[in-house]
Amino acid sequence: MNSSADHRPLSARALHKSFDATVALDDFNLEVESGSLLTVLGPSGVGKTTALRILAGFEMPDSGTVRVNGQTVNGPGIFVPPERRQVGMVFQDYALFPHLNVARNVAYGLDARHRDLRVSQVLEMVGLAGFEKRMPHELSAGQQQRVALARALAPGPQVILADEPFSNLDAALRKRLRAEVRSILREARTTTIMVTHDQEEALAVSDQLALMNEGRVVQTGPPDHVYRNPATSWVAEFLGDADFFDAHAKGGRITTPFGTFPTTRSGKVKVMVRPESVTVFPHAQGVAVVTYREFFGHDQLLSVKLPGKITLRARCWPQPALAPGDRVAVSVDGIHIFDEPQAPPAPPETPPGTPLPQRVVIPR
Ligand SMILES: Nc1ncnc2c1ncn2[C@@H]1O[C@H](COP(=O)(O)OP(=O)(O)OP(=O)(O)O)[C@@H](O)[C@H]1O
Ligand SMILES: [Mg+2]
Repeated sequence: MNSSADHRPLSARALHKSFDATVALDDFNLEVESGSLLTVLGPSGVGKTTALRILAGFEMPDSGTVRVNGQTVNGPGIFVPPERRQVGMVFQDYALFPHLNVARNVAYGLDARHRDLRVSQVLEMVGLAGFEKRMPHELSAGQQQRVALARALAPGPQVILADEPFSNLDAALRKRLRAEVRSILREARTTTIMVTHDQEEALAVSDQLALMNEGRVVQTGPPDHVYRNPATSWVAEFLGDADFFDAHAKGGRITTPFGTFPTTRSGKVKVMVRPESVTVFPHAQGVAVVTYREFFGHDQLLSVKLPGKITLRARCWPQPALAPGDRVAVSVDGIHIFDEPQAPPAPPETPPGTPLPQRVVIPR
């Protein structure tokens, strides 16, 4: 047991959980640092809600340990019920009591002594001072979610767990509320674990990401680190846009139709390229041909076909306006290499011995 992990606001070790034949959690491990917002991100059905419900005490794991601030709340022969875990929960559907007004919803379960003061404090914090007497049905969806957050914050929990807290809101409100909630949580110095399957939301608000797939956390780290250093091709593809092709590393280099790149690997590899690291420009002798274009105003997304059956997307300036059929030169600012080839690489379209074009330098 790692003693430094012992006093983290929350840690989960080797959690397993099955529902009959369905394995929901399979060696799930997670730790959260004090005061940080950690987002658990993963596709539908990988066990995110199950993990959160176990951390909150609403579900029993088949095995494994959960500690809250060093105290074991799940372990061999130990189960601490939800109300004694010092963990607050915010649900997707807010779960407010419909027959209680805002103040009574927030006060629910609070110690009588400082109840009124605490209710005022947290309502102020979430920007709802003056809403005490309103009933839940008299609030907008965003206001209801802020009441739910206030209720979770009120007892001063060690950790707040939030399961897809913004998913019932429309896109514009969702963006605004997530920024607001982020600053409320920062101000309150609350440790939070949020679940989402919205990668943009996760990248935008989190201090730490935990990428989850098939019942376990597959990579953790700050969003920009995980984005730039995905541990597997699955992470690369799930977190952002990525194109892949198989290649061969030899003599410390990987040769591609858009240049050679140094590598310490050798043999078959899988190369990943992010669209924002690809630049294209019209060039009569260019190696690639534009096959598709989407225009977004602030930028354009092009699909280009290169020799070796390689297709890359390029997210770049909207000018020049390129069209399908245009021949272009391609420059790639950094590739990512994985040791996990798929099918054998397709035979090159250029005959053996033909020198491949070197990396193109774009004139500034
Ligand atoms: N009470 C239950 N009884 C039976 N199977 C369950 C139960 N709860 C979850 N499961 C199953 O466990 C797996 C994980 O479900 P979970 O709800 O944790 O996924 P999730 O990652 O939260 O998905 P989503 O993003 O769709 O909310 C799924 O296959 C699900 O069908
Ligand atoms: Mg879920």
